[in-house]
Amino acid sequence: MASLLERAAVVMPKVQGHYFNLEVERAQGCWLYDYAGRPYLDFAAGIAVASTGHCHPRVVQAICDQSQKLIHTCSAIAYSESHVALMEKLAQLCPGDLQHSFILQSGTEVIEAALKCATAVTQRTGLVCFEGAFHGRTLGATSVTFSKAKFRDPYQAWLIPQVMCLPFPQAGQAWDAAGFKKTFHQKVAHQPVAAIIAEPVLGESGYIFPPQGFLRCLRELATETGALLILDEIQSGCGRTGLWFACQAEGVVPDLLALAKGLGSGVTIGALVGRPAIMDLWPVSTHGGTYPGNPVNCAAALATLQVIEDEKLVDNARLRGEQLLVGLQKICQGLGGIKDIRGRGLMLAIECDGAERAKRVRMAAFERQLIMVGAGTHDQTLRIMPPLVVKAEEVTQALQILSEVLPSCCT
Ligand SMILES: Cc1ncc(COP(=O)(O)O)c(C=O)c1O
Repeated sequence: MASLLERAAVVMPKVQGHYFNLEVERAQGCWLYDYAGRPYLDFAAGIAVASTGHCHPRVVQAICDQSQKLIHTCSAIAYSESHVALMEKLAQLCPGDLQHSFILQSGTEVIEAALKCATAVTQRTGLVCFEGAFHGRTLGATSVTFSKAKFRDPYQAWLIPQVMCLPFPQAGQAWDAAGFKKTFHQKVAHQPVAAIIAEPVLGESGYIFPPQGFLRCLRELATETGALLILDEIQSGCGRTGLWFACQAEGVVPDLLALAKGLGSGVTIGALVGRPAIMDLWPVSTHGGTYPGNPVNCAAALATLQVIEDEKLVDNARLRGEQLLVGLQKICQGLGGIKDIRGRGLMLAIECDGAERAKRVRMAAFERQLIMVGAGTHDQTLRIMPPLVVKAEEVTQALQILSEVLPSCCT
């Protein structure tokens, strides 16, 4: 019988990229299993999605229960319990006065909604974003994405023209808020800004954390200029950095917070969470869709947030992250070809001296059944983002594999 790979080659478009030729039959916790029953330790979590691990029993139960009662109504037609309960839960968990949520289906859709909300509410068109940023694949989100040229180049003619892209400062490198503010004002002088959009941690660019004070500086600039501050926590949110939201490290509350990925443990969901004073100015029915607030996806997301809370997974992300970081630093001490080990919580990165070495490490780890994926403008970085349920012994197992793989790839 033909393999999945062979069958897909006939029907799947080439635009869909692949890190590995892996055929997965099932998954549980931090483990994927192929058709031969071989286990793979999943330190990619479906790109920071499987926050409660694969197929957490409470998430599975919530999906089963909800899908036996109600799968879809369209929230323009009827209210449903899991949709309202999810918005209530987000209002309870999100910082400051982020009390209203527009529940959507994916990260890019949330960013699209955030940009539309910003222009509708401020009646301005300028957008400020950052070098290295990744915000998604739709045309609005692509317009503010600068992590890799290939994401923009084929679509350049269709992208939003009023976008100003500023350098993203990196923690540990020289940066001062006054200088940054001056650059900002020079760059945007000719254009009223609707929104400043930023990731609190660059994801696709390889887990680059900004210096302390950067998010506060963005908050001040947005308030001074009347622009909205949109923080994209699609990758960094829902506990991944060892805080519920990465912006809490600086006590910064954005006007709009974008969530997706880990919010749903794998169902297609995203949330645009906003301050009521702003969301209330977004004219009725100027945005919407068929599926916002889908009851099954909302039930899965609600169960996800409850599991993260009940199993203290935010604390676990911090503790297991420390274990991983210390272990990685020990392994990489003195190894040529490794430029940096960094991160916070379960958002960790190994930066190599180039794409070739990063790929060699990734494939050697895969051969030993450890899954990590790449990142970085030049594909030079490996991202480590296991499910938030990862256990100490699973971290030890991954470190054991890496202690063999990294030296063998760095000679
Ligand atoms: C920070 C960030 N924003 C937006 C997106 C787009 O999300 P999605 O792939 O769900 O559309 C991603 C996806 O990787 C992301 O990491």
